[in-house]
Amino acid sequence: MSLQIDEVPPSEAPMDLLLLADPSEDAVKEYLNQSRCFVAYANDVVVGSCVLKPIEGGMVELMNIAVSPSNQQSGIGTRLLRNVIDKVKESGARGLEVGTGTFGYQLTFYQRQGFRVARIDKGFFLRNYPEPIVEDGVQHKDMLRLTLEFCGDTSQQRTV
Ligand SMILES: CC(C)(COP(=O)(O)OP(=O)(O)OC[C@H]1O[C@@H](n2cnc3c(N)ncnc32)[C@H](O)[C@@H]1OP(=O)(O)O)[C@@H](O)C(=O)NCCC(=O)NCCS
Repeated sequence: MSLQIDEVPPSEAPMDLLLLADPSEDAVKEYLNQSRCFVAYANDVVVGSCVLKPIEGGMVELMNIAVSPSNQQSGIGTRLLRNVIDKVKESGARGLEVGTGTFGYQLTFYQRQGFRVARIDKGFFLRNYPEPIVEDGVQHKDMLRLTLEFCGDTSQQRTV
């Protein structure tokens, strides 16, 4: 399947897709204004989207990534993620960071591209979301922070 990935103005972000990854429309609208939004098209149909926000320390945060339900598990998310990793790397940023409340398949999705666990923000979802977020019967409480550093990450060295 040929995939085209374009940057769009935040006002044209596909909110229905972004809400799959973050159920708070208010939160999505807030970070969209300080971010860059990318949309993936297959045969001119929107199939995926992601949002990147510059944060402190020369890092960029992947605020949101989502693929339309009927197109999931066909490799689109991986291609979109790899594409934005390349874009962030080319921009000269130190690395990419992502926070997730799920410790399920999404963890593998990021780890396969080299993301590593940086820290856990305990109680993040309890403090920041008025409504409980529940996935597969488990309420999101803590946020797992993952990073992909492009250079100078000495923690990748073997210690044997
Ligand atoms: C996370 C997401 C963007 C991945 O996109 P995708 O196009 O489905 O991902 P891919 O097809 O590239 O799959 C990559 C791997 O992810 C895993 N995966 C993806 N969807 C999965 C699912 N529903 N169940 C189990 N594993 C899944 C698999 O390990 C897969 O590898 P495999 O094909 O070798 O089995 C997409 O599933 C999605 O939009 N989910 C809802 C929103 C979300 O959770 N966003 C991330 C918030 S942290």
